[in-house]
Order: sequence, then C-alpha cells, then structure tokens
Amino acid sequence: MCGIVGYIGKQEKKEILINGLKELEYRGYDSAGIAVLSDGELTTFKSVGRICNLENKCGDFVSNGFGLGIAHTRWATHGKPTEANAHPQMATFSNVVHNGIIENYQEIKQSLEKKGHSFLSQTDTEVIVRLFEENLKDTKSPLTAFEKTIASLKGAYAILLITKLAPDRIFYAKSGSPLIIGKGETGIFFASSDAPLIGYAQKVCYLEDGAVGYMDMECFEMLADIKMLEQNKVYAQKEGFRYFMEKEIYEQHKVLLETMMGRVSEEGIFLESLAPDFFDGITEITICACGTSYHAGMSAKYLLERLAKIKTQVVIASEFRYAGSVMRPSELFIAISQSGETADTLEALKLAKKNSLKTLAICNIDNSSIVRESDGVILTRAGIEKGVASTKAFATQVMVLWILSVYIAHQKGLLDENALKEQITSMLQATKATEVSPKLHERLKRLSKRYLHGHGFFFIGRDIFYPLALEGALKLKEISYLHAEGYPSGEMKHGPIALADSLLFTLALLPKHLLYDKIKSNVEELSARDATICAISSEDFESADDMIYIKPASDYMEEFFAMMVVLQLLALEIAIKLGNDVDMPRNLAKSVTVE
Ligand code: AGP
Repeated sequence: MCGIVGYIGKQEKKEILINGLKELEYRGYDSAGIAVLSDGELTTFKSVGRICNLENKCGDFVSNGFGLGIAHTRWATHGKPTEANAHPQMATFSNVVHNGIIENYQEIKQSLEKKGHSFLSQTDTEVIVRLFEENLKDTKSPLTAFEKTIASLKGAYAILLITKLAPDRIFYAKSGSPLIIGKGETGIFFASSDAPLIGYAQKVCYLEDGAVGYMDMECFEMLADIKMLEQNKVYAQKEGFRYFMEKEIYEQHKVLLETMMGRVSEEGIFLESLAPDFFDGITEITICACGTSYHAGMSAKYLLERLAKIKTQVVIASEFRYAGSVMRPSELFIAISQSGETADTLEALKLAKKNSLKTLAICNIDNSSIVRESDGVILTRAGIEKGVASTKAFATQVMVLWILSVYIAHQKGLLDENALKEQITSMLQATKATEVSPKLHERLKRLSKRYLHGHGFFFIGRDIFYPLALEGALKLKEISYLHAEGYPSGEMKHGPIALADSLLFTLALLPKHLLYDKIKSNVEELSARDATICAISSEDFESADDMIYIKPASDYMEEFFAMMVVLQLLALEIAIKLGNDVDMPRNLAKSVTVE
C-alpha cells in the first residue's frame, strides 16, 4: 500500500528517494513519484507501474547541494492509477505526498473550486496542497498555513509537504497512518516504515497521532522520544528462489524455531514480554484481525478453548469497528497483525482501549502502530515478509497463539507436567513438519497442472482445519485469481454440495488425528456426486482422485503445519503455471493502511 519517503540534506536526493521507495515496493503499489526542491527549483517526476519506470523518467536528473525531496508509492483509492493521480500532488509552488484517506475532500474541493482552483487529479490528496496555498493568502507564515490546512482535514493521514516559500524544511503531519523522522550523518530522513531509513538514519522518532510541524537540519533533537534505529538489516534477497513467497514458505522451519526461542524449552513455556500477572482476572478473549491474521486467530480459538478453557471469540476488524459489540471488563482484546499497521485492526484496537479492555498485540513488526498501542506484545519473529500473500507470518502467528494457549493453560493448572511436555514436543515436531521436502514440492509442481481450470475450488476441513481450509482458499485466490472457498466439511451438505460436479475441485484436509472418520464421510458425499477430490493426508483414501501425502505425524498440530505448507505450495505452483506475478498479485497491497 502507499509508502512515503523524504529527505533533507546535501546528498544526491533522487538516489536516496528512489532507494527508499524500492524498500517499500513489496507493500504493493501502482504508481510512484518524487519531487525535489533545490536551488529554488521544484522538479517533479511521476510514472505509472514499477519504480524502474520512474527511474527512467528521471533520466539524468541530479540535484547536488542542499535541498529537499519527497517521494511516494501510490496504491489507488481515489481515482485510477494514472500519472495525474500519482503523488506528489502539485499546486503552484508546493508539492505534497500523502498516505491514508481524506474523508472530507469533496467538501474542501468544492469550496476551493468556488475560489477559482482547478483540480488536475481525481485524488483526495490534491486538496491538501491547494488548501495550503489558499491558506497562504491570509498569512505570510507557511507553518501557520500548513497547521490551518491540517486542522481542516478529516480522516487518516501521513503527510509531507514542500514549498518554494520555505526551501529549507519539510512540513509533516500524522494521524492514523505511520510516519517516522530519522537523523543520520547525511541529513534528515522521513519514511512511513523503518525499512527505507536503515543504513541512512541512526536516530528515529515514531511520530504520534496529532503531530504537525516542520523539520529542518536543526530541529530534530527537539522531537520527543528519540530512539536508536536497529541497523543490522537483513536484506531480503530471493536466494535462488523464483519468488519471495517461495523463499518464505521454505523459511518457515527456521523462523518457527526463532518464534519458539527463549519461549519454549524443556523447562516449560516463558513469555518474557508479559508480566506474570498479565492474564489475572481475564475470563474471556476477543481476537481481532484481518485476512490471513484473522485465520490465525480462528485457529487460536480452538486451541485457547480446548487447552486453556477460556471462552474466545474471533472478529474481523472491519466488522468489529461498527458493530457496537458488547465489551466486558474481564475481556482481553488480542490484535493480530503481520504489519502492525492494518488500519482496521489498529482502529479496532483503539476502540477496545477506549472501552477499557486490556490489550495484547501479536505482531511481526516491532515499534509498529499496533505494537505501540497495546498493553502487551508478543512478537512473532517471522523476519521481513515480502510476498504479498502471507505465509511465514501466518505460521508464526499460529505458533505464538499455540504457545500462548499452553502458557495460559499451565498458569491455570490445566496441564500437568507430562501434558506440558507433550505440548512442547508437539511444537517441535510441528516445526519440523514445515521443512519442505524436494519430493513433495516436485509432486505439487506436477499436480498443479491439473488444477488450472474448473469452475471453482472448495477447501474443506473440520475444527482447526477449517480455518486452515479458509487460509488455503485465500492463498489460492490471492495469487491465482481463481475462485476458491473454504468451508467446514460438515456444512457442505447444507447447500454448497449443490455445486458438486467433476469441475468442482475439492481440496480435502484429512488429518489422521482429528475427526478423521467424520471428514472422510463428508468427502465421500462429495465424491459420490462426482466432485474431483484432492485429499491431503498421511492415510490412503480410495475415493480421492488425487492424493497428496504428508508424513505420518504424532498429533493433529503436526498435521496442521504439514498441510499448511502443502496448501501454500500448491497455490504457488498453480499461480506460477497461470503466469502470474506471485509476489505482486493484482489489486493487492502488503500493508492495508486504509479502511
Ligand atoms: C495475506 O495473504 C493477505 N495479503 C492479507 O489478508 C493480510 O493478512 C491482511 O491484510 C492483514 O494484514 P496484517 O496481518 O498485516 O494486519
């Protein structure tokens, strides 16, 4: 989704800005642009599509000597992905970049049009820069004009604005969308997440909502709560894999071990980041998330209720926000998010806080907005996930939630030492089950050829394998653009079975250690109606058209993680066969920072 970079200093600005945008590329975007203010000249370049198009557009342009620059990757919300709609948005002598949505832009636009402004784009963002220049007519101070502009905006935003009238500073504002200011040896840097700052800025300030002001070479130290930025960046390279998603599927075994490190050992379960009394007085849990993180939350419901005997409900963040849900003081609100910046999850979390609930973030990105808003945090430690379709983040989320379930169960005295040891052994085995065997991958490559067409996919499972089925269907949809649905297998005969015929592909999750016979009967019902069945199991299943074998496992969680890998790889191979860009699926963004 949209990304922001900014720079003040003497270095070549185009290079810093474009390098920064490249760090944000994985978030998904459809156009990009930069504006540089140097020697009294304000120069803007914009292009549709990949950042290499923008680089070509910039050609030989260089800007040595002191100056400012702002840059942006846009994921279209208001208006199509065109050059005119790309940021920076311009007025007469100022440029702006913006992440988020200005909800009252129509109102502002109409009032500016009455004052003679003509708009060149369909964006909500253009009103910011035009209103700023309009406000400048009544005041000589760009800061006052900027503050007045920001005060008129409703919605979520991170904004950088530059103007020829103040060539030594960048104006900034933040509300509901992340924005960071950093300082390094070569100048002042801005970005909407850490990645573009690493290697450039040593000190950073994560701006709070309501921050409005300007930054020049002098005033960084006046910011509150300056932190040191972790510099040991692990450059996410594909390391021989065709796609980041593929690499991330293969990495799951390694990152799951990191998720467990220091938390799961022979001595027991430890959650170092939470006070020992964190769960005191908690009688129920609400888990809130979007997309894949929501599926991890759904999986956790089964674990929390089965192991820790704690009533758990799982809600989709965008639904929760406006549902007027009843919240009780003894309820713990868990927000799950890979990015920590998903707008709906963040706002749902704020709502829970407003209702005085205790909050816990399960998140992959330290210092993200969701982490900073929460009372407690457990980091998932998946490392940078670049594939838009989430894989290793899901695996680590489920693992953290499993660890949490066992931790609470043990605290409540529901697991004796033997049962605790069994859970720990199972976690280690489940982690091992995510290692990709070349034989399995080869089998899925071959099999994928048979599943490219048809009129739809059903992914079916029961219990915790139902959310896994949902996740399998989501993975396939996201990158193959084929229609797929996840269903509890027992529900098929209540309607969906009407679709059954040979062009209906059914991916059946058949764990040996959980409700095997029940699922088998459900799959047989489909097979009897001619649906094409692809069964994933360690056991033979005669009614299957295709079998994908997982290794024999000791329990259902080991089977869960083994099947998760199968579903991810199958989606990957189908999408590759269909010629899709797996890492940048159409219409999707890695981090969804708008409502
Ligand atoms: C996953 O493959 C998706 N791209 C998407 O559903 C994602 O999980 C969702 O947008 C939530 O993101 P978050 O975990 O960063 O909050």
